[in-house]
Amino acid sequence: MTANPRSDKPRRGLLITFEGPEGSGKSTLIEGLVSELATRGCEALVVREPGGTSIGERLRAVLLDHSSREMCAETELLLMEASRAQLVREKIVPALEAGIVVLCDRFADASIAYQGFGRGLGDKLVERFNEFATGGLEPDLTFLCLLPPAEGRARLKQRKTDRLDREDPEFHERVYEGYLALASTGLPRFVVLDATRSPEALREDALGQLAKLEHGLLKFL
Ligand code: TMP
Repeated sequence: MTANPRSDKPRRGLLITFEGPEGSGKSTLIEGLVSELATRGCEALVVREPGGTSIGERLRAVLLDHSSREMCAETELLLMEASRAQLVREKIVPALEAGIVVLCDRFADASIAYQGFGRGLGDKLVERFNEFATGGLEPDLTFLCLLPPAEGRARLKQRKTDRLDREDPEFHERVYEGYLALASTGLPRFVVLDATRSPEALREDALGQLAKLEHGLLKFL
C-alpha cells in the first residue's frame, strides 16, 4: 500500500508546497491554481498537512483540537512528522511516480518554522526528523506566502481558530522569523510571495512565477 520515497522509480510529477503563517491565504491560492491548472488540462492532487490521509487526519484532530492544550513541543513535532511520513508514502510518492502534480498545503518547512522556531526546538533537530519522515523527498517548488503576524491575527478574527492559531503573539512572531530565515536561505525552490495583497493579485503573481520556471513545469502549463 505504501511507497518508498527513495525508490529508483522515475519521478515524473511535481511536488509544489505552500507555506506561510496563519491567515496568509495559502488555501485560497491553492484553489485558484487548481482551477487554472484544470483549464490547461492538468489534474492536480491537493493534500494538506497535518492530514491528507485517513491516519493523518486523525493525527490532525489530536494536534489541532483545543482539548490538546497540555501537548508538549516534542509530541507536537513527532505527530506532525508521523502525519508527514504517512502522507509521503501513501499519497505523494505514488502520485509523483504516476506523473501527477501534487499541491501540498504545508510540508516539512512548516515544522522548521513552527516547531523549530516557534517552539524553540531548533532548526537542526527538526531537519533530522523531517529527513526521516520524508525519506529525503524535497519539493520541486515552494510558495512562501509572507504575511506579518499582526495582519494574520486580524484575518483570523474572521474564521474558526484551532489550538495553534490561539498561541500567543510571541509564538507567531517566532514562526514568522522562521519563515523569513527559510526565505533567506536563497534555495532555488523558494518563491516568496507578498501575501499582504488581494487573493487575485497573489494568484496572478504565483501563476506568473510558475510560467517563468523552466524545469519540467512548462509541460504542465
Ligand atoms: P493550517 O491552518 O494551514 O491547516 O495548518 C494547521 C496548523 O498546523 C497551522 O497552525 C500550522 C501547524 N503546523 C505545524 O505547527 N507544524 C507542521 O509541521 C505543520 C505541517 C503544520
